[in-house]
Amino acid sequence: MKSIYTICYVSKASSELTKNDIERLFNYTASTNSKFDVSGMLLHSLGNFFQVLEGEEKHLLGLYEKIKEDVRHGDIYEVYNKRTNQPVFNNYNSKFDIVKTSEDLDMLITYLNQDRSNSTNHKLKRLLQPFAMLGEF
Ligand SMILES: Cc1cc2nc3c(=O)[nH]c(=O)nc-3n(C[C@H](O)[C@H](O)[C@H](O)COP(=O)(O)O)c2cc1C
Repeated sequence: MKSIYTICYVSKASSELTKNDIERLFNYTASTNSKFDVSGMLLHSLGNFFQVLEGEEKHLLGLYEKIKEDVRHGDIYEVYNKRTNQPVFNNYNSKFDIVKTSEDLDMLITYLNQDRSNSTNHKLKRLLQPFAMLGEF
């Protein structure tokens, strides 16, 4: 199977960000990532971002350098930064997933539940569970 690179992190959103800024970031991210065949997800909840990126290694590492420098967030806690043979998101929707509501997140968790043999699915589900319990977007 072709190796895909995966990056996953949690970060603290800048307190200056308005709802409009976040909406603009969501739109930009969804359209740019779809253009470059980057799959994954981005959510914003209670002042945090949670993002998973999957795609071609060189592109992803370049993108991640830009994301890390972005002043709209900081305090990045990296969960994954590695090659994987088991990409999680390539079968989920056709585009990059922006999680904006509890329903979006429930749908994603249901999807992650479907393949229990994939250990990344399982870990991501555990990481996302607190956001689902808080239900604040
Ligand atoms: C939390 C967060 C997540 C981001 N995720 C992406 C992303 O997945 N894809 C993307 O192209 N830009 C993303 N960006 C925006 C990049 O940091 C950067 O602004 C964008 O790549 C444009 O960079 P450029 O103007 O140097 O080309 C994100 C920014 C933040 C704050």
